[in-house]
Amino acid sequence: PSPHSTAMAETPLHHSTDPFTDGEHNEHDPAVPASDAATCGADGGGILVVDFDVLVNGAADRRARAIRDLGRACEDWGFFMVVNHGVPEELKEATMETCRELFSLPEEEKVEYLEAGPMDPVRIGTGFFSVVDGVRYWRDYLKMFAHPELHCPANPPKLRDVAAEYSAKKRALMLVLARAISESLGLDGGRIPEAMGLESCFQILVANHYPPCSGPGGAGMGLPAHSDHGFLTLLFQNGVDGLQVERGGRWRLAKPLPGAFFVIAGDQLEIVSNGRYKGALHRAVVGGERARMSVVSMISPCLDAVVAPVLELVPDGRGLEFRGVRYRDYMEHQQSNKLYGKAALDIARVKRD
Ligand code: SIN
Ligand code: FE2
Repeated sequence: PSPHSTAMAETPLHHSTDPFTDGEHNEHDPAVPASDAATCGADGGGILVVDFDVLVNGAADRRARAIRDLGRACEDWGFFMVVNHGVPEELKEATMETCRELFSLPEEEKVEYLEAGPMDPVRIGTGFFSVVDGVRYWRDYLKMFAHPELHCPANPPKLRDVAAEYSAKKRALMLVLARAISESLGLDGGRIPEAMGLESCFQILVANHYPPCSGPGGAGMGLPAHSDHGFLTLLFQNGVDGLQVERGGRWRLAKPLPGAFFVIAGDQLEIVSNGRYKGALHRAVVGGERARMSVVSMISPCLDAVVAPVLELVPDGRGLEFRGVRYRDYMEHQQSNKLYGKAALDIARVKRD
């Protein structure tokens, strides 16, 4: 694929009259024009595709180019796609299928996880923060802490093995990306991983299920606009689009290349890079006849890491954008206060008069 393929097209956002996604959700969405007629051009509009194999095995010049492109993607979008990543399609399929099985288990199998809070290791629920101001979102989810320790419902029985194998593959992928991101900032490859304690990273596996939603209200919101609290989020979907990413004040529908993973930069990358790289604002819209599923691996700093801008990026301490915040506290702050958009970043932001 060309590095700037037209992988995205903008979609207008329809407001739903469905009671589950009533218009109130929009108050949580940032002021982004709802429908903009412009479409992404062949260059300039497409999301960047990173060839993972080039990062690992590429000749020096190709690798350097890939790293430069990766840096641009993190700066411009906080979002890119990875191809040739070596994670077998069968493993992705098995992970998606097993999560689908879990969603269709009888209620009594899931009930013990329904009341779980954001810091509990296994949670099943409906809605982003379940219910916010009486608004429900069109989504079921399963969240499991996957690393340093895997927590997992007992059923379906194969979930544990599949989740363990899939999550390990994603951590390996993430470490290569983290080194490349480090280099793209002009740092030694190990600098970013070290600053976040990524060798003992905290990892969550999330499966999202967005039921079909083809009522008279048309499309609605599956997941409101937010940035991820971690470092990098890697995800794939079941062939049904719905993920939108904000860039330059517009929402763009993310369309994957076959087999690709989407990668979303999280708040911790924004902090550690002193704001040079952006945590991408994204959301999921629903509105089709087919259910959408996404399998999401969120990889974060070690829970006890105090993440602060890497000093080399803040010469003489001038222009420091963020202070250090312990990652566990950051995550709890975002989740417990139900912070939408990029509001959670404010606890780390250096205030200026
Ligand atoms: C997410 O933001 O965690 C999931 C988005 C998606 O379902 O594509
Ligand atoms: Fe997200």
